[in-house]
Amino acid sequence: MDQIIVGNGSNEIVELLVRTFLFPREEAIQAFPSFLVYEKVVKGAGGEMVFVPLKELKIDLEGILDKISPETKIIFLTNPNNPTGLGIEEEEMREFLRTVPEDIIVVLDEAYIEFAKGSGIADGRDMIDLHPLLLVMRTFSKAYGLAGLRIGYGFGSKILIDYMNRVRQPFNVNMLAQIGATAALDDEEFLSRTISVVNEGKKYLYKELEKMGLEYVPSVTNFFLIKVGKARDIYERLLKKGIIVRSMEAYNLPEYIRITVGKMNENEKFILSLREVL
Ligand SMILES: Cc1ncc(COP(=O)(O)O)c(C=O)c1O
Repeated sequence: MDQIIVGNGSNEIVELLVRTFLFPREEAIQAFPSFLVYEKVVKGAGGEMVFVPLKELKIDLEGILDKISPETKIIFLTNPNNPTGLGIEEEEMREFLRTVPEDIIVVLDEAYIEFAKGSGIADGRDMIDLHPLLLVMRTFSKAYGLAGLRIGYGFGSKILIDYMNRVRQPFNVNMLAQIGATAALDDEEFLSRTISVVNEGKKYLYKELEKMGLEYVPSVTNFFLIKVGKARDIYERLLKKGIIVRSMEAYNLPEYIRITVGKMNENEKFILSLREVL
């Protein structure tokens, strides 16, 4: 129990961590592009975010180690990463955690880890003894489909959890969310069905995109990137057809859209619409 903390979504865990540990002018490091919330929270606390560009779309762990300075307090690693859908492999992660200085907090944001099972991607549960200040974050918003209930959790270093619990509101997670989350943990059938719908969907979408001659980034998550040229235009034209994708301009990938894999009828509708729009 003293190695676990729950939050109003894993977003709240990011807020709690930063509020508890990061002082003004201290630094955090993250890959770019990656989840956009860390930067907002760090800046909001008066800290500085240091960005390390992806290397061939993968998180550059060596580049992150190179950016460590005396001001560095927190390193955020999104594994698998959003928006690329690519992950850090187990051995690579072990090596990184053994190398990071012991007084830096390392956050492994595993919001999409359930989709990556069996892919060789590092699993934070096997890593908690490798670094004294490690916090792994997970959520019920993705594979469990409970985003609207707002519940996520963190686990790892006792000392981190202890301090965050002192700063946390006493009733930060509502009762309905707690009941939903515990029921979801027992509903293994729903989780495995979700994962197989996503995997079948990816197979179909990849095949159709190949037929269209479009490049995509094979992912271990429930979303992936497609190179479409002017992503903003494609996004707007798809929107008029009732399909919401994300244009990746804000992530400095202006030629890419990111799509979330849907149910088969939705995937088919997407492919039809994408053909029309292109
Ligand atoms: C990488 C990553 N981490 C965390 C979150 C936050 O999820 P939640 O606050 O719903 O748990 C998201 C949501 O988009 C995400 O993409």
